Amino acid sequence: MHQDAKKKAVAEAALTYVKPDTIVGVGTGSTVNFFIDALATMKDRITGAVSSSEASTERLKSHGIEVFELNEVDRLDVYIDGADEVTEHKHMIKGGGAALTREKIVAAVADSFICIVDDTKQVPVLGKFPLPVEVIPMARSYVARELVKLGGDPVYRQGVITDNGNVILDVHNLDILNPREMEATINNLAGVVTNGIFSLRGADVVLCASGNEIKTFT
Ligand code: 5RP
Repeated sequence: MHQDAKKKAVAEAALTYVKPDTIVGVGTGSTVNFFIDALATMKDRITGAVSSSEASTERLKSHGIEVFELNEVDRLDVYIDGADEVTEHKHMIKGGGAALTREKIVAAVADSFICIVDDTKQVPVLGKFPLPVEVIPMARSYVARELVKLGGDPVYRQGVITDNGNVILDVHNLDILNPREMEATINNLAGVVTNGIFSLRGADVVLCASGNEIKTFT
């Protein structure tokens, strides 16, 4: 199956995790775009969505799905999002689309995180995909120097401003053998908003399109 066909298939499989009359947490990216299109087929059976990016908000609204502010809701049943890398422990790297901070916030509110990927995203160890780090603009050079001390090669993502008005450093060549420790260490640097390791709150379920089937990891 072509990669886009896999993304579509896994996105459609995620609909089984959406309960009627609930507000759905919705991530960001090309796999999630297929999910939003699939969610539109059951839009009359859900209350609406909370979105992790301006791009997903726009797509949800274009389908007539009501988008709520996160501060308006006290809980979410599920959060459905893609990933750039995922391990067998359901730890992820996210943020290829620069939406990592809002993704982490919405995921924190949800009872379950359903990660939807194709098999190109499965890895034994996180770190081949450059780790996105969202940084307050004035701290960019300081944080870059600290990331070098941690063994990484940070590259400023030119021309990208996040939905929160910040910049992204993509950190190459990190072997993330202890994701929880690395996630906390980077988040503790002054000026870091958050980094794209999702291990302290990983996925609860990974749905992975592989060949012609959808595999479920719990
Ligand atoms: C955006 C993300 C995405 O989930 C991640 O980049 C995967 O995207 P895609 O489904 O397009 O491969 O974290 O910030």
